[in-house]
Amino acid sequence: ARANIGVVGLAVMGSNLARNLASRAGNTVAVFNRSPERTRTLVAEHPEAGFVAAETIDEFVASLAKPRTAIIMVQAGAGTDAVIDQLTERFESGDIIVDGGNALFTDTIRREKAVRETGINFVGAGISGGEEGALLGPSIMPGGSAEAYETLGPILASIAAVAEGEPCVTHVGTDGAGHFVKMIHNGIEYADMQLIAEAYDLLHRVGGLTPTEIAEVFTEWNRGELESYLIEITAEVLRQVDAKTGRPFVDIVLDQAGSKGTGVWTVQNALALGVPVSGIAEAVFARSLSSHPEQRAAARELPGPNTTVTIDDVPAFVEAVRQALYASKIVAYSQGFDAIVAGAKEYGWNIDKGEIAKIWRGGCIIRAQFLNRITDAYRADDSLMTLLAAPYFRDAVIRTQAAWRRVVVVAAEAGVPAPAFSSSLSYYDGLRAERLPAALVQGQRDFFGAHTYKRVDAEGTFHTLWSGDRSEIGSAGSSH
Ligand code: 6PG
Repeated sequence: ARANIGVVGLAVMGSNLARNLASRAGNTVAVFNRSPERTRTLVAEHPEAGFVAAETIDEFVASLAKPRTAIIMVQAGAGTDAVIDQLTERFESGDIIVDGGNALFTDTIRREKAVRETGINFVGAGISGGEEGALLGPSIMPGGSAEAYETLGPILASIAAVAEGEPCVTHVGTDGAGHFVKMIHNGIEYADMQLIAEAYDLLHRVGGLTPTEIAEVFTEWNRGELESYLIEITAEVLRQVDAKTGRPFVDIVLDQAGSKGTGVWTVQNALALGVPVSGIAEAVFARSLSSHPEQRAAARELPGPNTTVTIDDVPAFVEAVRQALYASKIVAYSQGFDAIVAGAKEYGWNIDKGEIAKIWRGGCIIRAQFLNRITDAYRADDSLMTLLAAPYFRDAVIRTQAAWRRVVVVAAEAGVPAPAFSSSLSYYDGLRAERLPAALVQGQRDFFGAHTYKRVDAEGTFHTLWSGDRSEIGSAGSSH
């Protein structure tokens, strides 16, 4: 038993994570893959890593020093269950099984419970940062027991990204908390990407800028408050020229966005818990809309506006779009953190929101300077009802809302879809409204289904006899 940690599943993410682990002082890494060719290739290509290669699961387990720690990096779903079963049969009480895939958090809750009964620790850990992150330092969101984190924490800290001197890892909470927070991370990732895409579309179709010009705009934005990995890579993508045709790369890519499920999960969970993550939902739906080519073809001839929007002051429009993007982004993060708060309450996790924003500053896909402000907001007031009400974000919206509104108007007038921009603005206006038409909806519900309503001026539950004399019945204590 020579290795202090092992990795099962050696596709790109697993291989890179294994190499990352091996490059840190004190780690000897055992590696195992279902098809042994992949193990052999990895070991041959990276002699410097000093991997302990195993051709069978028994060999792999035997190569691990106690307490044994193994990180599973296989496809989420049935594949993960199969590997967990193999390890559980061979591991002993006190050993640690880590699932580093994008598992659905409810699966993680189920698995943790089952594995814990054997005395073995099970840790579901969200890992963000793609292939490069896995190799050079991802953001890591582990759940599981505090006891398991004592052993695992230092190892994860050694391979995580570092932001302002701090490793991007924290013990998120028990059982499925890590995978839950990774899911929300991905939901925010979807919204962030969609908002950037809408900004590009408006600059292109309304502002008349070319992809290369927009790349320059984004590079410029990346020097200010929008500084983030996603803005940075968007500029790279827009600058790319297709070698075959000489056209902008973005123009030769089929405009149908794929997805692997985490965005949908975020929205499904939010729907179940009643959290309006409307920006994230619009991002998921925008991908769905794009992926229905036949329906889009059937709608292609539908008329748009019969006037054209002309932008006289292009630099001013660019700045307005930047401000709209920033304000909408604040809404997306605000909604994402609301989903974390609701999930923590529902599943009994004690999640430190400021700490989550901190570990997202480096390594992960949504990494950005901006996250420091979220940490500050929750450090100042942990029971903050909405990030939008924190002084920094409130001021940012006060500063940007005129441009935000104008951009949404221009998009509507030009017939360019901006679902995430406009729904974020509606969310903001909904939240701050003194009176909502929800009162009328309550009236409608009471009319057709006697679903009752509450009054603004009295305690209790009421019903109007709509099909009778339209008098009101009910009072405090009555139940309808
Ligand atoms: C990350 C990414 C990663 C994956 C996305 C892609 O944090 O490193 O989120 O987990 O690339 O899940 O998701 P879609 O295929 O659904 O866009």
